[in-house]
Amino acid sequence: MAFPTHRLRRLRATAALRSLRRETRLDPAQFILPLFVVAGEGVRKEIGAMPGNYQLSIDQLVKDCAELVRLGIGGVILFGIPAEKDELASGAYDEQGIVQQAVRALKREHPKLLVMTDVCNCEYTSHGHCGFIVNGDVANDPTLEWLAKTAVSHARAGADIVAPSDMMDGRVAAIRAALDSAGFAMTPILSYAAKYATVFYGPFREAAESAPQFGDRRSYQMDPANSREAMLEIELDLEEGADMVMVKPAMPCLDIIRMTRDRFDAPVGAYQVSGEFSMIQAAARNGWLDGPRAMMESLTAIRRAGADFVLTYFAVPAAKLL
Ligand code: PBG
Repeated sequence: MAFPTHRLRRLRATAALRSLRRETRLDPAQFILPLFVVAGEGVRKEIGAMPGNYQLSIDQLVKDCAELVRLGIGGVILFGIPAEKDELASGAYDEQGIVQQAVRALKREHPKLLVMTDVCNCEYTSHGHCGFIVNGDVANDPTLEWLAKTAVSHARAGADIVAPSDMMDGRVAAIRAALDSAGFAMTPILSYAAKYATVFYGPFREAAESAPQFGDRRSYQMDPANSREAMLEIELDLEEGADMVMVKPAMPCLDIIRMTRDRFDAPVGAYQVSGEFSMIQAAARNGWLDGPRAMMESLTAIRRAGADFVLTYFAVPAAKLL
């Protein structure tokens, strides 16, 4: 491979050559847009730390999703902000809950749009933790029952995929069993398998009104210092019946995405989380970065690392550039 016989710059000389050489491409069908649903009508409340993202009432949500279908975006993932929160996360598994209603409305108006639901409790508990509290910490096993009920209610409403994000041990098996016995053997589970306790969820907690009222999530979400533990999480979730797995956050975890891709053959998703979005937006608004280029490069890097699809708040602007 000696110079001057070999010159790698030859294939970088023109746009056409670079395009032929390109290893990773983006397609709107690989983007999943997270959306926040609230009660009421005509509600469209911008999220302070996430410019261009809104808490939407169902009518507005349905309206916005028409554009996603037009752009060929892969789907949406819904997060619900209930009118009332309680200790038992009742709103999470209520058949008339906010997400259940939103799914029914979306599937009615846009039957071809893929609708995923986030299965978790933190938006629904008065204390903001992801499960049932015993002695100041989330109790694993009682929480599984809530998650299973929630997943079944989402499937019954018409969700195409349920995505548990709570990080309880055994939740995938519990959800699979509950779905199967309720007649939803064909509803796939996308597990947030390697989900880290990261600072980059900060803006989301404003969006979903789900900041924990005491303590933090480090007794259930993973330590950002670990990678082998992530492989164990993924292996167990696949054994329990996960159809697809996710790594979250994305840019701080490109190594984890790559390890996952190399070790497992299941589809791998990555979640470019709120803080990743907000950092790029903030720098762009300050004129410190070229926003559209930073957006496209970040998505390309996540795909290059091995993600098959990306949950991203950039889904619409990125699709428009493609
Ligand atoms: C619910 C959940 C969170 C996110 C997705 N699902 C918040 C958390 O775990 O605190 C974060 C997504 C984002 O930051 O964009 N448990």
